[in-house]
Amino acid sequence: MVDSLRVHLISSERKMPGQRLIFLVLSGLTFLALVALSLLLTKGSRGTPRHGRESADDFIIKEVDPESIRNYLRHLTSRPHPGGTKAEEENAHWVADSWRALGLDEVHLVPYDVLLSYPKNNIPNLVRVLDAAGQAVWTSHGWQKPLYSPEESSPDVLPNFNAYSAPGNITGDVVYAYFGREKDFKQLEDLGVSVKGKIVLARYGEVFRANIAWAAEKRGAAGVILYTDPQQYAPLGEDAVYPNTVYMPASGVQAGTVLLADGDPLTPFYPSVESAYRLAEENSSVPKIPVQPVSYGDAREILRHMGGPEAPAEWRGGLDVTYRLGPGMAEAGWTLGLEVHTHNARATTYDVVGVIRGSEEPDRYVILGNHRDAWVFGGVDPSSGTAALLEVTRVLTSLKDQTGWRPRRSVVVCSWGSEEYGLVGSKEWAEQFGKQLMDRTVAYINVDLTIEGNYSLRTLSAPLLYDTVFEAAAKVPNPDAAEVAAGRPMVYDTWAARLPDGDHPGRPRVDLVGSGSDYRSFMHNLGVPVLDICYTYDPKVNVEPLYHTLYETFALVDELYDKGFGFQAALTRLWAIMAVDLADTQVLKFSLKEYSSFLADAQEELLQEYGDLISARNISMAYFKKAIEGFSQATDMFIDDLDHLDTSNVLAVRRVNDQLMMVERSFIDPRGLPDRPDYNHVVMAPSVSDSYSGTAFSGLSDALDGILDLEPSQQEERWVHFAQHLAAITHYINTAAKVLSDDLW
Ligand SMILES: *[C@@H]1O[C@H](CO)[C@@H](O)[C@H](O)[C@H]1NC(C)=O
Ligand SMILES: *[C@@H]1O[C@H](CO)[C@@H](O)[C@H](O)[C@H]1NC(C)=O
Ligand SMILES: *[C@@H]1O[C@H](CO)[C@@H](O)[C@H](O)[C@H]1NC(C)=O
Ligand SMILES: *[C@@H]1O[C@H](CO)[C@@H](O)[C@H](O)[C@H]1NC(C)=O
Repeated sequence: MVDSLRVHLISSERKMPGQRLIFLVLSGLTFLALVALSLLLTKGSRGTPRHGRESADDFIIKEVDPESIRNYLRHLTSRPHPGGTKAEEENAHWVADSWRALGLDEVHLVPYDVLLSYPKNNIPNLVRVLDAAGQAVWTSHGWQKPLYSPEESSPDVLPNFNAYSAPGNITGDVVYAYFGREKDFKQLEDLGVSVKGKIVLARYGEVFRANIAWAAEKRGAAGVILYTDPQQYAPLGEDAVYPNTVYMPASGVQAGTVLLADGDPLTPFYPSVESAYRLAEENSSVPKIPVQPVSYGDAREILRHMGGPEAPAEWRGGLDVTYRLGPGMAEAGWTLGLEVHTHNARATTYDVVGVIRGSEEPDRYVILGNHRDAWVFGGVDPSSGTAALLEVTRVLTSLKDQTGWRPRRSVVVCSWGSEEYGLVGSKEWAEQFGKQLMDRTVAYINVDLTIEGNYSLRTLSAPLLYDTVFEAAAKVPNPDAAEVAAGRPMVYDTWAARLPDGDHPGRPRVDLVGSGSDYRSFMHNLGVPVLDICYTYDPKVNVEPLYHTLYETFALVDELYDKGFGFQAALTRLWAIMAVDLADTQVLKFSLKEYSSFLADAQEELLQEYGDLISARNISMAYFKKAIEGFSQATDMFIDDLDHLDTSNVLAVRRVNDQLMMVERSFIDPRGLPDRPDYNHVVMAPSVSDSYSGTAFSGLSDALDGILDLEPSQQEERWVHFAQHLAAITHYINTAAKVLSDDLW
């Protein structure tokens, strides 16, 4: 421990010539102290950082305090704080002031003037069932009903809305579209039901809601109504709901953005700074039709009145009504009205960026991020993550103050604004500082929320960070007492047992990096390896029921998900340990072998799915295969060479670290994926039909997905895309191999 070393050094300085025994003891102490000091000062061997990792890990595990996290969370969830509001701005100042008080070396507030979206506070958005005379026979609720915590009655709670919906007051026939996935709309077409000019009623829960809205808009729908069916959101019945359980009450409404693009919609690709060129709103990517969420209590009333054929068996949900496809109502002449006052508005959103400056490589950044804005109180999303970020910062600053620790590289903590609108704060920042961040960032670790369940750890990760998260999870004590009693003492153990990786026995599952939180720009635009972690629910129950509702309160976390805050403390420890590991290890511990097996597996999957199609087209996969083999050989050679690295040679160490940092960067294509210029990473991208989920080589699989159903000329176009993109990927894999060698030739 650094502290006890200091004591020994002082006592040896004070030594007086005297008794031989005392001299020997003291010189022995001096010797030990000097050995330890030299270990501190020299740059240890690879994987053995200079200040003694064990002590930093132990310090973190002890210092992370559930009560401190709880206090942060209570403060953050005391009132609604959506992006661009006064409350969000005040929270930004509060985070910045807290970080200054903790003694971060730098703390900056970074404002962006962006296009956000709000409902009208006094005129709620409404859905009506209208009779043949146009009279409303039923009207939906404008707000969710307060049920438990006093703050649920706050006048600052906004009426129900989906951000970036177009305003409008329309009347028409309704069509039920199940989960609103591409395949659901196709099935409707096959059943002879058109959504053109109709109001689409679709269920939340399978794909990103903006994909639903866009799928409807591009088919000519006039409007969209989204709801949460109790089949998924209240599986134990309507009596077993919040505040007695974590399930959705009949009045719960999930808010959320329906913008399909990320960042400020008026300044795509560029930061929303003063000098920015702003698109006209009608030329931006915001939806052109009204989109509105309702509760299942209200959806029941719509469905109850619907006419047309019964929905296919699997389309039926958990409401006690006959699910019908429509179009329209059972009663002749009846229609559905959708009155939406949601409107776009320019507002300022704030990122808060703080730094613990690195001692040796201050220009190398390990970035930790979480967003701060919430649709309402954000008990889970994001305030549980914000509380963890504040606790990580508190613990790292006390590690610094109490032990003299300073990271080798800079640790940068980021509190993003307006993530809920479409990752706005992080996207703008990544656009503004993209070049420097590409040059200097080692890794980005995101925690959007810490706890959306207490079943197991859930991780999305770039392959380069697999070892980082596996090792850290094996160091953190398991907060689940029943699991510890069952012989799984560490966080890793429960993760591996409950979410096993089907392809690697004994190992936990790690998901591909899609989109859906602030790691998006780091991975998909900048080529920075990213990781996103939280505690999650049992995937057999495949939703977080109260997500983005009024009922995501402090009480939900404190009384239902995590009594005693043990799970949140474990997640916070994991985050801090990974940060220190990445910031301190002399030679970056990137999992090169994981990356090469990831590429090989992804290639195999692609060929299994499309191999016959590709060979029928006479397109050779040989160069692509060879590139992947070449990458594997390059990583083996690089790893062998590391054994001979002169770790006392500062430039040599910097050189191999730069090479390691270049690996992920190599996969960035400045032109972007085919027809997706804002996704630059050729190995991993969010799926086209669901922005939440990640896919490997998605530029290739998207080109071939459903190709045989297309017209011959469209098929030709897809094959051109495929062949061009295949060549591009091959080139970038060759590049990734080459950056690991010391020369160009
Ligand atoms: C919207 O349309 C409905 C029904 O057609 C009507 O009753 C209502 O007054 C309209 N709302 C506004 C704000 O015009
Ligand atoms: C919107 O884009 C169209 C087509 O590029 C262009 O003609 C029009 O002038 C744009 N509108 C504005 C207000 O910039
Ligand atoms: C874990 O979550 C469930 C609800 O999903 C809850 O019943 C249980 O009490 C929670 N465990 C802890 C320790 O809070
Ligand atoms: C592929 O090559 C074979 C043999 O050269 C040829 O008969 C066939 O027409 C080619 N197919 C395509 C799609 O070019």
